[in-house]
Amino acid sequence: MPGIVIVGVQWGDEGKGKATDLLGERTDWVVKFNGGNNAGHTVVIGDEKYALHLLPSGILSPGVIPVIGNGVVVDLEVLFGELEALNARGIDTSRLKISANAHIITQYHRTLDKVTERFLGKRMIGTTGRGIGPAYADKINRVGIRMQDLFDENILRQKVEGALDQKNHLLVKVFNRRAITVDEVVEDLLSYAPRLRSIVCDTSLLLNTALDDGDVVVFEGGQATMLDIDHGTYPFVTSSSATAGGAATGAGIGPNRLDRIVGIVKAYTTRVGSGPFPTELFDEQGEWLRSRGFEFGTTTGRPRRVGWYDAPITRYATRVNGITDLVLTKLDILTGLAEIPVCVAYDVDGERFDEVPVNQSDFHHATPILQYFSGWKQDISRARTFEDLPLEAQDYVLALEEMSGTRISVIGVGAARDAVIVRHDLID
Ligand code: GDP
Ligand code: IMO
Ligand code: MG
Repeated sequence: MPGIVIVGVQWGDEGKGKATDLLGERTDWVVKFNGGNNAGHTVVIGDEKYALHLLPSGILSPGVIPVIGNGVVVDLEVLFGELEALNARGIDTSRLKISANAHIITQYHRTLDKVTERFLGKRMIGTTGRGIGPAYADKINRVGIRMQDLFDENILRQKVEGALDQKNHLLVKVFNRRAITVDEVVEDLLSYAPRLRSIVCDTSLLLNTALDDGDVVVFEGGQATMLDIDHGTYPFVTSSSATAGGAATGAGIGPNRLDRIVGIVKAYTTRVGSGPFPTELFDEQGEWLRSRGFEFGTTTGRPRRVGWYDAPITRYATRVNGITDLVLTKLDILTGLAEIPVCVAYDVDGERFDEVPVNQSDFHHATPILQYFSGWKQDISRARTFEDLPLEAQDYVLALEEMSGTRISVIGVGAARDAVIVRHDLID
């Protein structure tokens, strides 16, 4: 059972990093296949807390080879910043491999991300401002810069010229910013080339060989289903394929290599940035969830929007990803509530929708139809078997499992590495 995909079910920050780390000891490779340093994964190991953005969470496990696949957009300054910070904490990062086909986020992508958001005003997406959208736009527009271009100065210069041609008109004439010179970009990018020689390679070949040999490969998705460019709440999404299919295209392996699709889902819901969110709370219960769950962005520090669990979203994610197992995280955060509401369907202008509406306008108008479950007061953070949980917590989990139509294989009861209940092994 070697190919395992980890995807976010909701709007990100479900605890994907922790789930990947959990598998670390029995994993040979961890591959990031989409997104870039818009991601923020917090992993807690003993007393140490690590915040990873661009690097796959597997970098923290000594036996794992971490890979940045072709579907990722790489900010080189961030890459080396993260590597150096981990080295300073005694983590060996020398095993890292990066696809020669991965695209690069440059200074002009970061600038364009910020000025475009400002220009949108009320219609802003609320991006992380890391240049993600503009870098993917260049990729699709066929004016992107790839890792391999760093090793051919002539080609690099031509490509940067091509990319800046129209952008400088835009920056100067529309956004009132200074023009960016080809020289400054080329010089900056070339400065990283020597250090990248031994890291950049054909990762598709490496991974296919590893899978042929029976190695365990975890494909770690960034962002989540509802932020996916095709299946999310467009245009309030990120610019990459965050769903399971993205693992195949973003890593250069066939879809038939993906044996297990693990959806990570929080016991409630959060979202950062703009866009529809039917179960969102604006009252003191929302404040309570935010502070108890410490729901502040790992990447931007923004307070996350919070709301109750949304069952139609999990069903939707199960469909578009082909989820085989769910990891339910942060169940411990709900401890202390007298009753726990769960969204079972939506009311859209008086009409009941049992599934996520296909029309975005309907989703914007959706209000949750809630079912209430009994809460529990006991601390559950030391529970290690399902039977250790109070009956109310067991009932809550079983109800979510039934509503989603997929088994809940792992339950998170704390941030620590071992604070989990494993009901079904994810690698077998
Ligand atoms: P990711 O982006 O999906 O990797 O998630 P983030 O790291 O952005 O956010 C998840 C947060 O929840 C992190 O701070 C984790 O340490 C924490 N976390 C993960 N699982 C659990 C859990 O079961 N209980 C608690 N209390 N915290 C958890
Ligand atoms: P992880 O991997 C939560 C959101 C941004 C914004 C939208 C587009 O930690 O779950 P972008 O910078 O990607 O163009 O922003 O997507 N977003 C995330 N929200 N978790 C993430 O990653 C996110 N990555 C992007 O807030 O709404
Ligand atoms: Mg995160």
